[in-house]
This record gives sequence, C-alpha cells and structure tokens, in this order.
Amino acid sequence: MSGHKKIIIGNWKMHFTVKQAAAFATKFISKSVPADVLVGVTPNCLALSEVSGVLSKSAINVVSQNAYYEDEGAFTGEVSMPMLRGLADFVLVGHSERRHILRESNDYTREKCAAAFRSGIVPILCVGETLVERQNYHTNQVLNDQLSVGLADLTTEEVSKMIIAYEPVWAIGTGEYARPEDVEKAVAKIRAEVTSLYGAIAGASVKVLYGGSVTRENARSYLEINGIDGLFVGGASLSVANFLANSRNCRVSLVLKLNKKKKEA
Ligand code: PGA
Repeated sequence: MSGHKKIIIGNWKMHFTVKQAAAFATKFISKSVPADVLVGVTPNCLALSEVSGVLSKSAINVVSQNAYYEDEGAFTGEVSMPMLRGLADFVLVGHSERRHILRESNDYTREKCAAAFRSGIVPILCVGETLVERQNYHTNQVLNDQLSVGLADLTTEEVSKMIIAYEPVWAIGTGEYARPEDVEKAVAKIRAEVTSLYGAIAGASVKVLYGGSVTRENARSYLEINGIDGLFVGGASLSVANFLANSRNCRVSLVLKLNKKKKEA
C-alpha cells in the first residue's frame, strides 16, 4: 500500500452536495498535490461515484464514510461493501460520530472490518477515548477494547495492511487538540496492542494516524511524533487550500525524516 509514504485522509463528513464534492476534487487535482503522500478524500455515499470518476486518473484515493457489514439483503437504507467496489479504496469504520451518535458498537466495527476486506476494501478503524474516559484514566482500556474486538476477525496480513486513526473524541471538531506527548503514548499503546494480538510485523506495519482538530498550523507537531504515519483531518479538509497545505506538511515531514535517517546512517 503506502510503503513509508505519509498518509493524509480528509473527512468531509455530512458536507458537500454531489456537485460541490466533484468541484472540490476537480480543483484539488489541478494543484500540485505531493505524489509521495497517500492522500484520501471521503465523499458522502451519493457523491462517491462522481468523485471517483473525477479522481480516476489521479493518485488521490477515495474513502467511503461508511458501509454495512452484510454483503446484500433486506437492510433498507444501507450500502454494502461490495457496492463500494471500484468506487472506494478505503472505508471508515468506527468513527466516533458513528460510535457515539449512531450507537455503533465494537462488535459492529469487527463485522465491518471483516466485510471490508472480503470486498477488497481497506478499513480505516477509528479509535479513541471520550473526555470522561480520559479523566478516569481509562484511555488504555478503551484502546484495548476497541482494538481487540474491532480486529478480532482479521488475519495478520489484513491487519498489517490497515490504517488505525487515533482520535480522542474530546478533540474532534472542538478546536481542543491533544498534546503531542499524549498522542505519542496512545500511538505506542496502539502498536503494542496490535503486536500482542497479531505479532511484531503487524504491530510495525499497521499505519497509525492522528485526528482531532488538526490544522495547517499544528499538523507538523503531530507528524513528528514517533510511530505516526499521518493525519486524519475533518474541518481543515473542507477547503482546498487548507487540505493542500496539510498534504504538503506531510511531504515536508517525510523529507525531514528521510534526511535524518541518511545522516544517522
Ligand atoms: P476535526 O475532525 O479535524 O474537525 O476535529 C476530525 C474527524 O473527522 O474525526
């Protein structure tokens, strides 16, 4: 998938009509988007087809915001993973808004991750603690539960390919962002949990992103964290200029890291 590329996923949430989403995609690819960064955008399901058409000749990835875990059947209003084939490369699973507003459980995320892989789509599993859980020192337990259940039906190879977005719930859409040193601890915890479940190769290969009030100003402080592969951006992905600035931040951080490695060698 991404090798050691940095990753940036823009979460459009319930914004943009089909026309607006296509216009964003058209404008975005007319700019010089860094080729060595894996960039993904997340149109709503009505706009998936249009946006995937606009982006088909570009390297930008299309991410579905959601899909159901059954492949087909009497599930009124739902969209299945097989329906995403050819339209989306990735699918979000367990975003905090789905967990907390739409009551999606850990078991639901487990079913969805497995269903995504059955259809050749890579899940981006979102994990993170609420403010109360954090204040009660339950962050590690929450991450443990979300990962051990969410990943339970997958193979080591599948887990090694997937993306986990660490998003403290209290930092999403609030302007209140997590301290990089706390994010570093959470990322280490995520990798340790994946290692204990699926072994060291999976623990090192799984991609881990930070999300929660990322802006073009604070992005670099997260990209420098040990073990972080990139950013999951909500509000700041809704303007082409901001999203592009953060894609370029990813590139700068990648170049700095590679130069540092060269110097150390
Ligand atoms: P935000 O959203 O960047 O607006 O906080 C993050 C997210 O989509 O989870």
